Amino acid sequence: MAIIIDDVSHTFHEFLLLPGLTKKEHVPGNVSLKTPIQRYKTAEGMKAALNAPFVSAAMQAVSGPELAIALARKGGIAFIFCSQSIESQAKMVKEVKEHKAGFVESDSNLPPTATLQDALNLRRKTGHSTIAITENGGRNTKLLGILTSKDFWEYKDDLSQTVQGFFTPREKLVMAEEGVSLQDATNLLWKHKKECLPIVDKQGNLKALVFRKDYFDHHSYPDELTDSRKRLFVGAALNTYDYMERASALVEAGVDVLCLDSSDGYTEWQAEAAKQLRKKFGSNIILGGGNIVSADAFRYLATEGEVDFVKVGIGGGSICITREQKGIGRGQASAVMDVARERDKFAKETGIYVPMCSDGGLNSDTQMIMALAMGADFVMMGKYFAMTEESPTAKISYRGRLYKPYWGEGSNRARNWQRYKQSEAAHLIFEEGVDAYVPYSGPLTDKVDVSLVKLRSTMCNVGSLTLKELHEKARITKVSEMTVVEGGTSTVEMLDRMQPNVD
Ligand code: IMP
Repeated sequence: MAIIIDDVSHTFHEFLLLPGLTKKEHVPGNVSLKTPIQRYKTAEGMKAALNAPFVSAAMQAVSGPELAIALARKGGIAFIFCSQSIESQAKMVKEVKEHKAGFVESDSNLPPTATLQDALNLRRKTGHSTIAITENGGRNTKLLGILTSKDFWEYKDDLSQTVQGFFTPREKLVMAEEGVSLQDATNLLWKHKKECLPIVDKQGNLKALVFRKDYFDHHSYPDELTDSRKRLFVGAALNTYDYMERASALVEAGVDVLCLDSSDGYTEWQAEAAKQLRKKFGSNIILGGGNIVSADAFRYLATEGEVDFVKVGIGGGSICITREQKGIGRGQASAVMDVARERDKFAKETGIYVPMCSDGGLNSDTQMIMALAMGADFVMMGKYFAMTEESPTAKISYRGRLYKPYWGEGSNRARNWQRYKQSEAAHLIFEEGVDAYVPYSGPLTDKVDVSLVKLRSTMCNVGSLTLKELHEKARITKVSEMTVVEGGTSTVEMLDRMQPNVD
C-alpha cells in the first residue's frame, strides 16, 4: 500500500510569526540580508552570496536582461530562461555582463568618414550617446576622438556632413592607459570634470570607456551584486537535455550561477547532469538543482548531484496547473519546512550547508517573509517580477488599468517541453501552466524596496539581524480561519468599499 503521510499539506497563509525579544540593536539599519547561494563548509563560512534574498524565475515573461540588470542592482539575481536557443540565452547573459563593467567595451564606434546621420542612426540603435571615432570604425583600433550628443544638433546641423570637425579629437581628450584601476579612472573623471574617460593601450587603440554616470549609479545601489570585475551578477537556467552545450556557451558569456530547471528535479537525469557539469567545470561554477518538495529529494540532489543549492516548489506557482493536471505537488509551506529540517540535519552530519530556495506561489510580502522564516535562504518569484516595468513584456491597458502578460513555462505559449518531460516526444502534450495577465506594478526598484523594508522590520520583531538568526529564532504558529479574519480589517467601514446609496 502507498505510504500515507499523516499530516495535511500546508501553505504560508496558515501561519503567523510570533514576535521575539527585540533588543535595542534590532533596528532595520543593522539588518544584513546577505544569504548564501553556494554550498559551503560550516566551519569556513559563506562563499558566494546574494545581498538580498530575491531571485527571479527562469521564465520567458519574467527574466530578460533588463530585469536581470535591475534585480542585480538590488542585490538579487535573475535566472535567464532556457526555453530559447542557446545563442539567444547566451546573448542575454552577455548583455547583462557588459551592462556596467566599470570598464565598458565601446559598442558605438564610427570611422571619421561617417556622417552625422550615421551617428544619429547608431545612437538610436544602441541608445548610447557617446560614440568613439576610431580609425576604421571598429572597437580595439586607434582612437581618433569622441562624439557626443552635445557635439551636434539633430534639427539644426546638416546631417549629411561627416563627423570630422564635430567630434572632440584625441589631443583634447583626457584618457588613461590600459591597466589603470577603476578608482584611479574615476578620480581622473572627477578631477577633470568629464563624463567619459577612454582607456587606450600603448599604441593608442581603444580598449574601454569609463563613465561618470556609472559611478553615481553605483552609489544609488549600495547592495548591487557584482563579480570581481565589477560586472553585475546574472544566473541562467539549464535543462537536462542540451545542458553541456548550453552551459559551455553560458559560461563563455560570463554567467555567474546556473540552475537545472525541471518541474520535478528528483530524477537520475538531474543528478547525472549535475555530475557531468561538475566534471567539466569543476568548482568554477555555482550550480543549483530542482524542483523538489521533500527531504529525501533534498538529500539525493545534495549527495548524488552535489548541487550548490536546491530549489523547492511543485504546483504552487501562480500560473501553475500541475496539481490539477497530474495530482502531484505539495503545499509550499510543508515542502519548505520539510526540506529546511533536512538541510540542517545534513549540515550537522556532514559539515556542509546546502542553501535552499523557495520557488513559486509567493503572492505577498508576508508569504516571502514566512518562507524565509521557515528556513528558505532565498526566494524565487515569477509573478512578482512579471508585474514590473523591467519584465520583458509590453504593458496593455484594459478598462483603465495597466496589465502585463504572464504565462507559465508549461503553457502552450512557452512550450518549454524540456522542463516538463511528459513523454519521449520532444514537445508538450498537455499544458501545465496558463497564459494570463497581471497588474502592472511600476519599477522593480520601488517594489523590492518596500518588500525589503517589511522583511527587515519583521526580522527586528523576531529579534534577528541576519537570515540565519531568523531561521533559528522564528517561532511560528498555525492559525485558524477566524484568526485570518481577525487579522484583516474588521468592525470598521472602509469608505471606498461602501455601496453608494441608490435611492
Ligand atoms: P509564481 O512566483 O507564483 O508566479 O511562480 C513562479 C514559479 O512557477 C516558477 O519559478 C516555476 O517554478 C513555476 N512555473 C513556471 N511556469 C510554470 C508552469 O507553466 N506550470 C507550473 N509551474 C510553473
